[in-house]
Amino acid sequence: MKKIISGLQATDSLTLGNYIGSIKSLVELQNENNLYVFIADLHSITVPIDPKDLEKNRKSIVCLYKACGLDFKKSKIFYQSSIIEHSHLAYILMCHSNLGELNRMNQFKSKSLKQSNKTETIPTGLLIYPCLMAADILLYDADIVPVGSDQKQHIELTRILADRFNKKYKSKIFKIPEFYPPKIGGRIMDLLDPTVKMSKSSENKKGTIFLLDKIEDIRKKIMGSKTDSLNKVNFDIENQPGVANLLTIYSSLSGLSIKEIEKKYINKNYGDLKKDLAEIVCKVVEDIQKKYNDAKNNKNLDKELKLNSSVCKKEAHNKIKEIHKILGLEYEY
Ligand code: AMP
Ligand code: TRP
Repeated sequence: MKKIISGLQATDSLTLGNYIGSIKSLVELQNENNLYVFIADLHSITVPIDPKDLEKNRKSIVCLYKACGLDFKKSKIFYQSSIIEHSHLAYILMCHSNLGELNRMNQFKSKSLKQSNKTETIPTGLLIYPCLMAADILLYDADIVPVGSDQKQHIELTRILADRFNKKYKSKIFKIPEFYPPKIGGRIMDLLDPTVKMSKSSENKKGTIFLLDKIEDIRKKIMGSKTDSLNKVNFDIENQPGVANLLTIYSSLSGLSIKEIEKKYINKNYGDLKKDLAEIVCKVVEDIQKKYNDAKNNKNLDKELKLNSSVCKKEAHNKIKEIHKILGLEYEY
């Protein structure tokens, strides 16, 4: 049994990329492992966000977690901000990181460009984002971290920070976690521009499927997705990125291998592929939406979150006490 931790930001509504790249693997892993899943609401304030939107998004993610099949009794599900030890450890790790390594993070570079074109006004929260993420992971001695491939660099930095701290203080306080991408679908691409990641914040929403989109809109987005003029259902990321992306989604949601799908469409065209894929995606999303509406009316969810939170808080608090001792900050409180 492994200890697993992962989180999703509450910046906007969740996408099919979030589902395939993260939530789906978490649901599959929860039976055999000790799973911690949180709503990364502190990460959401690294970019400007209206408090009303944040409040709405974080509640909606709880319901979506439930709707996607996470079991609140089996797994520990909680709000990151409800356990202040996360931000406390983030501060300690920040003091063990350096500007160069934080500056090199791809996500920092792309997100800061979106926020500002002047170094002077880039939000500091974006720079220190990976230290908070490392704290989320190291606080609970996680063995593996299931995330999409965009987060690989952050996990690598987490490993470096943990190892640096252990060596500096000659301790084994931090477990070195492993990056754990999904078997398929670690990077679902935008439907209109298959060279960029499907993202919550894309300008053209027609390239992104949101889990709470109207079913008919999802069908339209898939039918309108960008392919190419070869009209051959073939998995070739370099020359046919749009079709490769559709095949990846198809494979992840149907359980068929890419080879099996290619064979199925050997004498068919992209229209056939899109129609069938739309059917598969709509069925999955429709089921999630039905359960989402039930979850919204479930009065027990809040109680379950609080219970989970108090268990995790105890664990996090004990870990911080040990860290304080190592740093010479021991004090009974
Ligand atoms: P975020 O939306 O940035 O909070 O991401 C939450 C989780 O979803 C992380 O594990 C990401 O790696 C994953 N994720 C986000 N977008 C995609 C995507 N387009 N394809 C695969 N995984 C994704
Ligand atoms: N940074 C992650 C993302 O955007 C979300 C996240 C925050 C996370 N803390 C984490 C994921 C800890 C895994 C473990 O996708």
